[in-house]
Parts: sequence; structure tokens; C-alpha cells
Amino acid sequence: MKRIRIAIVLGSAAVLLILAGCAPAPEKSAQQPAQPEFKSAVPINDIMVSIIDHNAHVIWNAAGDRSPGKPTASKYSPKNDQDWHYLEHAATALAASGNMILIPGPPKADQDWVKDPEWRKLAQDVANAGAKAVAAVDHRSLEELGTAGDDLLVTCEACHKKFKPELPAHVAKPAEQPEHYGKDPIK
Ligand code: HEC
Repeated sequence: MKRIRIAIVLGSAAVLLILAGCAPAPEKSAQQPAQPEFKSAVPINDIMVSIIDHNAHVIWNAAGDRSPGKPTASKYSPKNDQDWHYLEHAATALAASGNMILIPGPPKADQDWVKDPEWRKLAQDVANAGAKAVAAVDHRSLEELGTAGDDLLVTCEACHKKFKPELPAHVAKPAEQPEHYGKDPIK
């Protein structure tokens, strides 16, 4: 009796093995190619300062005052094609910067940040706001540029609050960081 039972168990194991063998093998073409591991020599903090912060200020300054009821245009708002062209560089850099901050630089913290799903979502938000700014430039729309700038600000604040709450919220004045103010020298 015992023998038979063992035989049955083995028999069903064999059936399972056969079934497994018949199961269609995953198609090679359907498999994702392995994601190459990107590494950067540039710390995320440097991308923040030189690319994200710099270009965000160019957009914000051009968009002017966004308080309700205030006239939008400022003395840094675009007046001609060359000004819009300058803004196009800033907007494109921001649209690309969302991916840049997914690539860790040498600091240990960079490695941890880029793995965090919330970080990755916020990085995508930066890219989306940048793409919105690019579209605003295409449409030569100061109003759209302002909306893109507002979106950007939301992402900066959300991410700093979560990942670097001790960062001072210091908004530099034109004389401190003239590079944020386009080619229009500060009088
Ligand atoms: C996905 C998260 C994230 C987003 C989005 C983000 N930041 Fe940052 N930012 C950081 C972190 C984290 C640091 C600190 C990096 C470090 O200490 O190595 C930082 C650093 C900075 C610094 C340097 C501060 C210093 O004291 O050196 C500036 C300036 C800055 N961010 C501006 C901005 C602006 C402006 C925006 C929005 C347009 C923005 N950041 C969007 C996470 C983010």
C-alpha cells in the first residue's frame, strides 16, 4: 500500500515536470534589455546648483511676479526673439535635468536618493515642468512660462522638504547671483 502511494506521488511529480517542460519559454525579444548602470562624476548637489537652480531662476525672473492681481511681466521678461532663445536654453536644460538627478554622483547620499521611488517621481515632475517651459517658449507665452515656473517651485519645495529639510530657503538677490538674470545687467 505504502509503495503504491509513493509511486503515485512520484507519478504526479513527473507529470508536473513534463508540464513545466511544455510551458512556453519566455520569448527573448519580450525580455527587457538589461539597464546599463549609469554613473556620474558630478554630485547631485552640483547639478542642483549649476543646472536646476540656475535655470529655474532664469525662468522665474522672466515670468515676473506671480502674485494674484499683479502685472506678470518684469524687466527680465523676454522682449525679442533673442530673449526667447535664451529662455529656450534654460527650459531645455530643466527638462533634461529630471533625468540627470537620477544618475548618482560620487557622494554616498546620491546612491540612496536615486533609488527612492519618491525621489524618482519628483525628478520626473522637474522634467515635466521643464517640458512645459519648453512648450511655453515655443508658444511665446509668458503666462504658460509662469505656470511652468509655478510647477517647478512646487517640486523644489516638495523634494527639499522630504530629502534635505535643513536647506535654507534663501532666495538670492540679483546682485548676489547676477548669472540668474539673463544678459540684462542689473543697473
Ligand atoms: C528630487 C529632489 C529635488 C528636487 C526636485 C530639487 N532639489 Fe534641490 N536639492 C535636493 C537635495 C537632496 C539637495 C542637497 C544635495 C546635497 O546636499 O548633496 C539639493 C540642493 C539644492 C541646492 C544647493 C544648496 C546648497 O546649500 O548647496 C540648491 C540651490 C537647490 N537644491 C535648488 C533647487 C531648486 C531651485 C529646485 C527646483 C527648481 C530644486 N532644487 C529641486 C533635492 C531636490
